[in-house]
Amino acid sequence: MTSGMSREVSDTVYAVVAAAGSGRRLGRETPKAFVDVSGRTVLERCLDGLAAAEAVDHTVVTVPADMVDDVRTLVDRQRPLWGAMSVQVVAGGGERIHSVLAGLHAVAAHAGVPHTGIPDGGAGGESGAETVVAVHDAARCLTPPTMIATCVETAREGLRTGGWAGVVPALPVTDTVKIVDAAGVVRSTPARETLRAAQTPQVFGLHGLLRANRMNEAREELDSAHPTGLVPGPLATDDSSLMELAGERVLAVAGDPQAFKITWPDDLDRAVRLVEGEE
Ligand code: CTP
Ligand code: MG
Repeated sequence: MTSGMSREVSDTVYAVVAAAGSGRRLGRETPKAFVDVSGRTVLERCLDGLAAAEAVDHTVVTVPADMVDDVRTLVDRQRPLWGAMSVQVVAGGGERIHSVLAGLHAVAAHAGVPHTGIPDGGAGGESGAETVVAVHDAARCLTPPTMIATCVETAREGLRTGGWAGVVPALPVTDTVKIVDAAGVVRSTPARETLRAAQTPQVFGLHGLLRANRMNEAREELDSAHPTGLVPGPLATDDSSLMELAGERVLAVAGDPQAFKITWPDDLDRAVRLVEGEE
């Protein structure tokens, strides 16, 4: 386990941007990350924000497999815009969790650390230092750079001191939330003050997150043979949930309304209004 143990943290910070989704709910022909938001695409704005945070050295973007070549060309042209942050493009997968994992493997290769087998969480590659990786949704393309920097810094602190294995930015919820069963019958109502809506970037140690992904794969395999009830639905929708299931301590830090995810057409309208200064 990463938490509870202080360790050296590498100065190099990585980001994985999940941009391989189709954006079914947005309903455009173009995949969501390539939709225009007042002159710049969702993905371009996301990379602008990550670079402006001045907290990330190298970003791996996962895109639909048939777009890898085009996006590489696009990214090469824009490299100077992102200052010291280098950007690499790889193919994502069929679900967000698979895209993020493809990105994490590219990060491990770039960082020169092994990413197969079950590490004990202690050895962190040749230097012995833990590598920090921020996993971010391209669709949260207006996330304030200061929030990104704070997430990275707070995650580094947790890894350094052993206090926590990573951070998830989150906001209090305003609606009362119900847990319902498959038939729509309400089962319970969690106390609202204990609830938070999770955003990204979610920042962890690379080894902890890879290990949590492997544990999840093992659980899914096991569950298909002998249902355990421990698998969070068919697929985890964020990275923190994998860490939680792996028994790691994740710290919730303050999210920001501007880190909202473009999901529905209304969200895209809101993003355009924000960029154009109408909100
Ligand atoms: N994502 C990804 N690979 C996938 C699915 C999603 O990288 N196979 C990314 C999306 O590009 C997005 C982020 O994960 O930036 C959050 O997912 P979501 O908002 O659900 O995006 P989509 O899956 O594209 O949208 P929808 O679910 O409406 O189809
Ligand atoms: Mg989706």
